[in-house]
Amino acid sequence: MAETIKVLVPEEEVDKRIEELGRKISEDYAGRQVHLICVLKGGVFFMCELAKRISVPVSMDFMSVGSYGDGTASSGVVKIAKDLDETLEGKDVLVVEDIIDSGRTLSYLLEVFKNRGPKSLKLCTLLDKPERRVKDVKVDYVGFNIPDEFVVGYGLDYAQKYRNLPYIGVVEGVE
Ligand code: IMP
Ligand code: MG
Repeated sequence: MAETIKVLVPEEEVDKRIEELGRKISEDYAGRQVHLICVLKGGVFFMCELAKRISVPVSMDFMSVGSYGDGTASSGVVKIAKDLDETLEGKDVLVVEDIIDSGRTLSYLLEVFKNRGPKSLKLCTLLDKPERRVKDVKVDYVGFNIPDEFVVGYGLDYAQKYRNLPYIGVVEGVE
């Protein structure tokens, strides 16, 4: 059977939700500057769309971690492939993620960031699969809670494909 993509969250719904999150974040950070941290590569589409909808001053930095290979199962190992360019000292840091699954990546990263002296540290994720949690992580902003299915689109990939889909979909026809 060929791979096909079933739409889980259509483009208009994703856009609408990001708009709401942007508004909420702008209110919560009123009078401050927010330092967004993108976890590459998956978080990049979401972070750009979110940043466009935040009305307080924004700065951005990028980090790359590896925890998965090309498949759909977690190795549980987190390694920093590219670190941030800038210090977090005294900044209001908001980590922007595509999805929280087991929570391993984020619980590790939040620990690393906490030790770099940010003024505040919060987490925003487009998608959350709460059923799959192995490590506890406190999520401050969630786009959508989704069931335990492997999703693609809006930055999320399956073997590096489908990141560019403007909606969230489920891959079907994969053994
Ligand atoms: P965690 O450490 O298990 O929470 O995994 C987080 C990372 O795994 C995410 O940032 C994604 O890159 C990847 N991931 C987890 N679930 C999915 C999925 O359903 N589709 C695509 N990537 C996923
Ligand atoms: Mg990710």
